Amino acid sequence: EQAEIGLIGLGVMGSNLALNIAEKGNKIAVFNRTPEATKKFYAEAGELQGQLIPCETIEEFVAAIRPPRPIIIMIKAGDPVDQQMEILKPHLANGDIMIDAGNANFRDTIRRFDNLKDSGLTFIGMGVSGGEEGARHGPSIMVGGTEDSWKRVEKVLTSISAKYNNDPCVAWLGNDGAGHFVKTIHNGIEYADMQMIAEIYGILRDGLGMSAVEIADVFAEWNKGRLNSYLIEITEKVLRAADPITGKPMVDLILDKAGQKGTGKWSVIEAQNMGVAATAIEAAVAARILSSQKDEREAAEKIFGLPTLAAAPADKKAFIADLESALLAAKVGAYAQGFAIMSAASKEFNWNLPMPTIARIWRAGCIIRSEFLDEITSAFTKDPHVANLIVTPAFAGIVKDTDAPLRRVVSYAVLSGLPVSALASALGYFDAYRRGRGSANLIQAQRDFFGAHGFERTDGVDKPHGPWGSGADIF
Ligand code: 6PG
Repeated sequence: EQAEIGLIGLGVMGSNLALNIAEKGNKIAVFNRTPEATKKFYAEAGELQGQLIPCETIEEFVAAIRPPRPIIIMIKAGDPVDQQMEILKPHLANGDIMIDAGNANFRDTIRRFDNLKDSGLTFIGMGVSGGEEGARHGPSIMVGGTEDSWKRVEKVLTSISAKYNNDPCVAWLGNDGAGHFVKTIHNGIEYADMQMIAEIYGILRDGLGMSAVEIADVFAEWNKGRLNSYLIEITEKVLRAADPITGKPMVDLILDKAGQKGTGKWSVIEAQNMGVAATAIEAAVAARILSSQKDEREAAEKIFGLPTLAAAPADKKAFIADLESALLAAKVGAYAQGFAIMSAASKEFNWNLPMPTIARIWRAGCIIRSEFLDEITSAFTKDPHVANLIVTPAFAGIVKDTDAPLRRVVSYAVLSGLPVSALASALGYFDAYRRGRGSANLIQAQRDFFGAHGFERTDGVDKPHGPWGSGADIF
């Protein structure tokens, strides 16, 4: 019996994905550049061995798969993917599908897809979220490519995906780079979500002087409420964990320098390219950059010291409730921005991205999974083309209920010198978005003053320049 699908790259993610595929009753051929890894993987597969065809050569591997052959490539993003594709190509036949399941830049995915256009082969860019556990037991899967190639893999991918109330968290989202683009924005939102949680943690730790375990209790409570989500759940677990060596809270022994591999940055770059304001995601990426500059920050602290904290809110319980609401309000802003980027990209790249479906397949399996995404699913199902999530009735309601607490929290943090750039950016975004008359009339006047750029008048009178000094000559 031939394999239903093949997989190249038996690192942690690849191995887990292969085991997941096998466990769900799909026969799978596996190959790794170093045959030792393939042997080890097979030896450790236990009762799943019957579903696996371990292969030591590319020829053997390709022959083991039922045509048209879907082949998942799960290796380091970037050049290695191009190299692997070149190695594979001569062995493939018409209709075969190479599937990149890594965190690729969607522009690479479009290029790879286009390069195969005349070859009879095709390409799927597949975003997979959920980390190692997700890959093994049920990730959220975002597919981009031709509809035909999707049909070939739909059954296998549906079987391995996470389920939200039996609803599979996998979908075909559009042509070429659509899947990887959506995964990138998922990660951009993930960055914002994580940064905002970290800022709230910073207020609890440095503002209210709470211990890691005390803060864990707060997150445990919040996880029972509207913030219920995977990221809040793991935050509690992280804060509660003790270091086996010293017995101290593990989190207190971890350097405050955050890494990043690029997807957050790509989200921001693409948002800027398309003219979408994604302030909370930008703030999150910038905060990771600043976090990595530990030496400079320590030197600066020596010069400036730290500001005195603002008077602690008298009612600690009420303030913690404010923090919960503030996080929810800011989260609405970050998700609204993420969806706004996708909606612009949908037009820019002709993908016709299905917003309700994207929210639907993020409800389980992925890193940002939450009940909140079920609410977003409902909002977009009611109005798939709404300009901004914030103005849907459900989310407008949330923002109306929570913007005052967000203001109080940001004010407290700002007065205390506690950095909350993502929370503040989400608030700033809302304040700019909800104000019919802003202050950009002044910018237009300045632009016209120094560069005769012109402006539109509020009264509709057709006089495109102002009476500025020598510029008045224009009239
Ligand atoms: C996921 C994660 C996953 C990974 C990213 C995060 O959805 O499962 O987003 O893809 O954790 O690589 O990227 P950083 O290393 O940039 O935080």
